[in-house]
Amino acid sequence: MPKYVITAKRKLAPRVNWFRIQAPLIARRAQPGQFVIVRLHEKGERIPLTLFDWNANEGFIELVVQEVGKTTMEMGRYNVGDHVLNITGPLGNPTHIDMYGVVVIVCGGVGSAVCYPVAKALRERGNKVISIIGFRTRELVILEEEFRRISDEVIVTTDDGSYGVKGFTTDALRSLLESGVKPGLVYTAGPVIMMKKVAEITRRHGVLTYASLNPIMVDGTGMCGACRVTVEGRTVFACVDGPDFDAHKVDFDELAKRLAQYTEEERIALEKYLN
Ligand code: FAD
Ligand code: FES
Repeated sequence: MPKYVITAKRKLAPRVNWFRIQAPLIARRAQPGQFVIVRLHEKGERIPLTLFDWNANEGFIELVVQEVGKTTMEMGRYNVGDHVLNITGPLGNPTHIDMYGVVVIVCGGVGSAVCYPVAKALRERGNKVISIIGFRTRELVILEEEFRRISDEVIVTTDDGSYGVKGFTTDALRSLLESGVKPGLVYTAGPVIMMKKVAEITRRHGVLTYASLNPIMVDGTGMCGACRVTVEGRTVFACVDGPDFDAHKVDFDELAKRLAQYTEEERIALEKYLN
């Protein structure tokens, strides 16, 4: 059994950690837009996490993890030298990287870790990349430097105006489109409500939009059905049919409802863990 040893860890913001983990086989096959399923230990649940970055030569992958519940909080306590039991992947379809001309990336919170490898690949392909990265407040801003390195322009927004432009990512997107910028693609990841709003705005402007969806997942290989989402009226599985989908065709209200369906169980699991 391979040992997935943590070789580096950095705190990016309160409750958000970056990990570098030895996983040579995954690093060799990883592509932008794909994810892994991590199980920390024998009794651990399986959680999906996007491949933030990787290096095939050095055999490592990088993950950015926001602590939102029991397992992500437990992972936040792992340190350099610790190892996680299983990492399955790379999973999901890689993002379609093509020449679109101008691409606008719209990400909220830890969604910026999901968008980063895609933005990087789209820029390497020759697109002009404008990244809009949004956070609630200044202390939660992550990955700004990383985005500046791989984007032609970066707009940081904070809800409270404590850093960058005051407002939501969707306000910045609306201003950009109204100022005459004509992207060939908008790519978005983050809170469901944000992705829904992004889709509403770009629909009005007729701009192709992909959203990386984040439903609850269990196996990540199309067998359990936990990740089902409705796209253009059809039931599909985000793990094997996505995670990217045409945002204009996604039923975001259903996705939000399904993400909230185990709130009570998640609260109990976290309470038990903390006690
Ligand atoms: P729980 O107590 O289980 O849940 C807390 C909250 O997280 C709930 O509101 C619930 O709606 C949501 N959630 C629970 N389980 C899942 C799940 N399996 N998938 C999605 N949301 C869930 N998070 C990151 O921090 N970094 C990433 O790079 C990242 N990439 C993701 C890629 C994909 C394809 C998907 C589907 C999710 C990704 N997530 C990512 C979300 C992450 O998987 C969840 O935050 C995590 O599973 C929560 O587990 P928990 O036990 O800590 O919290
Ligand atoms: Fe089980 Fe997608 S996670 S089918």
